Amino acid sequence: MYDYLTDPRFAGIKRFDKKIWLSTPTMHGDEQKWVDEAILTNWVSTVGANLNEVEKLAAEYVGRQYAVGLSAGTAALHLAIKLAGEKLYGQPKVGHGTLEGRKVFASDMTFDATDNPIAYEGGEAVFIDTERDTWNMDPVALEKAFELYPEVRLIVVAHLYGTPGKIDEIRAVADKHGALIVEDAAESFGATYKGVQTGTFGDVSIISFNGNKIITGSAGGMILTDSKADADKVRKWSTQSREAAPWYQHEEMGYNYRMSNIIAGVIRGQFPYIETHIAQKKAIYERYKAGFAGLPVKMNPFDEANSNPNYWLSCLIIDEDAMCRQVRGEQKALYVSEPGKSCPTEILEAMAAFNAEGRPIWKPMHMQPIYRMNPYVTREGNGRAGSNAYIAGSKADVGSDIFERGLCLPSDNKMTPEQQDVVIDIIRRCFD
Ligand SMILES: Cc1ncc(COP(=O)(O)O)c(C=O)c1O
Repeated sequence: MYDYLTDPRFAGIKRFDKKIWLSTPTMHGDEQKWVDEAILTNWVSTVGANLNEVEKLAAEYVGRQYAVGLSAGTAALHLAIKLAGEKLYGQPKVGHGTLEGRKVFASDMTFDATDNPIAYEGGEAVFIDTERDTWNMDPVALEKAFELYPEVRLIVVAHLYGTPGKIDEIRAVADKHGALIVEDAAESFGATYKGVQTGTFGDVSIISFNGNKIITGSAGGMILTDSKADADKVRKWSTQSREAAPWYQHEEMGYNYRMSNIIAGVIRGQFPYIETHIAQKKAIYERYKAGFAGLPVKMNPFDEANSNPNYWLSCLIIDEDAMCRQVRGEQKALYVSEPGKSCPTEILEAMAAFNAEGRPIWKPMHMQPIYRMNPYVTREGNGRAGSNAYIAGSKADVGSDIFERGLCLPSDNKMTPEQQDVVIDIIRRCFD
């Protein structure tokens, strides 16, 4: 790799002794108390006071009737999508998914955990392009998708990086076509849209307590719903679908997806700190924004009139005419440095050389080898399925453009303002 440490552009910058992370867990002490209590009282499995309490706390905080604690956000998405599939198409035969032979509209620029459960259930994701105002599912492309595939009845939509998407518009399109919404609020727990928490907009919604999230259980996830029947069903499925019989009686497919009372103890200890974490992340976002003044970059955008993000990750996007040449293959990237210009590869490598962790933007699903043959819909209609080529200035494919020009910045809430200023300085000098 190029030696950034001896590059005269970075003269005087000292490598961080301790790594500056993208986003790591922040423990406060109360977590230990609730985990210890679970151990001392021997409630260490998938039943106990911590689990009951965090389900209550999450439902109250978000403003939904029921929350069901599960082992991961991915498990929650699987059961949410299965639930929606069963509502729409009925219970499948054993060995078959609820979505077999069905298309499902899905966020394109997201973590693959959002969309993989569509395939777990036998469905085919039709990826919907991203809009530029919030970097989430484009309601105009979604409407276009219903023109192309009017039979579709399920939409899986994520809020990226803690920024609520255009959820009112997406809901209007869904209602117009009689479709259900599974809302992936894994990254946006605590963010609001028009004063209402994300996690309330789906027919069924999910959150994640993965280690890098706004609050964590080290792992864990939850389904959020207003239906008691749905909450009970998910709880049953998550504990191997046992019927109320003296023996192990099974009428439905089961899973081992329930949250443990130990994990719930960590989450219980984190809950009082959610607003603190959001305030810290917001301060990080604003410090970057101010620090990049005059550079040809913008921060990840949000709807300032209507939404309060949780600012989980700060990201930037480089102006088109300030991009140096960059090519990405399946595993590696190359770029050519140019005065006054930069690119995500250069910035990520330079930060890494100084011991600071950034990340590329989520590579859109339609560009992923595993999903390259799936349909992909942009505002204009059928997208360039199977393509991972970036066409500079292309307005047709927003997702690949943001992937090409954007990156995630170190957003750890334990990063000090002084450390962040050094990160900003490194990025500024990439444009020298
Ligand atoms: C958008 C999104 N969806 C789903 C998940 C899956 O959550 P988990 O890691 O808890 O399975 C994550 C994060 O990990 C995510 O970022």
